[in-house]
Amino acid sequence: MYGWMKTNIAVLGAQWGDEGKGKIVDMLTPHFSAVARYQGGHNAGHTVYVNGKKFVLHLIPSGILHDGVMCLIGNGVVIDPQALFTEVEELARGGITVDGRLKISEKAHIILPYHRELDVLSEARRGERKIGTTSRGIGPAYEDKIGRRGIRVCDLLGDRTALADEVRENVSARNRMIKDSTLDWKPVFDQVVAFGERMRPWVADVSLSLHAMMAAGKAVMFEGAQATLLDIDHGTYPFVTSSNASVGGVCTGLGVPPRAIGGVLGVAKAYTTRVGEGPLPTELSGALADRLRESGQEYGASTGRPRRCGWYDAVVVRYSARVNGLDAVALTKLDVLDGLPEVLICTGYQTSAGTIADFPADLRLLTGAEPVYERMPGWSSPTKGITEFDRLPAEAQQYVRRLEDVSGVDCSIISTGSDRRETIVKKGSAVERWLS
Ligand code: IMP
Repeated sequence: MYGWMKTNIAVLGAQWGDEGKGKIVDMLTPHFSAVARYQGGHNAGHTVYVNGKKFVLHLIPSGILHDGVMCLIGNGVVIDPQALFTEVEELARGGITVDGRLKISEKAHIILPYHRELDVLSEARRGERKIGTTSRGIGPAYEDKIGRRGIRVCDLLGDRTALADEVRENVSARNRMIKDSTLDWKPVFDQVVAFGERMRPWVADVSLSLHAMMAAGKAVMFEGAQATLLDIDHGTYPFVTSSNASVGGVCTGLGVPPRAIGGVLGVAKAYTTRVGEGPLPTELSGALADRLRESGQEYGASTGRPRRCGWYDAVVVRYSARVNGLDAVALTKLDVLDGLPEVLICTGYQTSAGTIADFPADLRLLTGAEPVYERMPGWSSPTKGITEFDRLPAEAQQYVRRLEDVSGVDCSIISTGSDRRETIVKKGSAVERWLS
């Protein structure tokens, strides 16, 4: 069916998020007719500069900043209408209109005004075992979806009596969860009706639109949010987000078949970070952690929280390569390691059950586990801004080659700075082939 089409690729996080997907997606976008988000919500976030203007996007793909590129939000995404409108308004202030270029799945679920409050409450109830969520109401919205009482975009635009019943049922489920709560369903109903009317021009059958584009030979980029180790099934459960951030989410979250995905690009940092709670086996503390955090500006784009920092973990990236079938990695922030006397790579974990080289399901195995490290010499001359692999300092080349060996996947793209131009696309790599 798609044998003759251009290559559609999925771009997704290979670690715990914040790998710099925004820059990679932004730089690849001119090669695609459309960018489609398949999961998550406004818990994601990236900042993009266009002609000196700053745009902070959480929900709308950054493809919107490129003329003529269609941006689609799939059924796998949960939408906070207010957050969506705020982004649309910010774009309008910057001279960008979304009309005609933004499509939102009629099957996407809505984050209701009180989901955020439930998110905060559920974290408080978990106490010591809290997840460290972004408090955006993402989890509770997905809970309602799986609980089969969620409200979808199409419900806002259909029969009002049916919608009133759904809102009433949803609000009473919420009231049962919160002691002595008597939230009135009617103001919620009025609010979501208004939300629906404002969204109406953008609502579409996203699966149908994508199939039409692909059948016309147009290339689509499938954009993931969060990352594989935050995936509800394959991540460090329960310290995960509530959606499938790994490649399976592309099909379920957009209504496209597996064969529509021509390539999978994983984005991985040259070291590792995570925000929120949960295991991070290579986590550093003290001066080295501060050094990575400050040079890498490792503060959450959505919440401003300082990110936990550690060495590159090849167990994690190897696992991501397996789960997602990564064809290539875009290695980001190599320049952040410039000037370090040595760089370490984790290749396994020493646990109470012996040394393991595959990421475990049971996180208890990681308690007290020690990373097994390979030590490599650092480099003193900067990689910042370098655009050809051969021009990297010899030790940086050696480091990247070793990451490829131990992670089992080629680093087709190497990012050496935040600017679009500060990028190496390796000659003869999968990415070069996709884009040609
Ligand atoms: P939630 O997605 O807000 O429910 O948060 C669940 C977990 O995912 C928490 O550890 C968050 O810090 C993490 N998380 C959610 N979105 C992002 C992201 O865009 N980058 C990194 N971590 C994220």
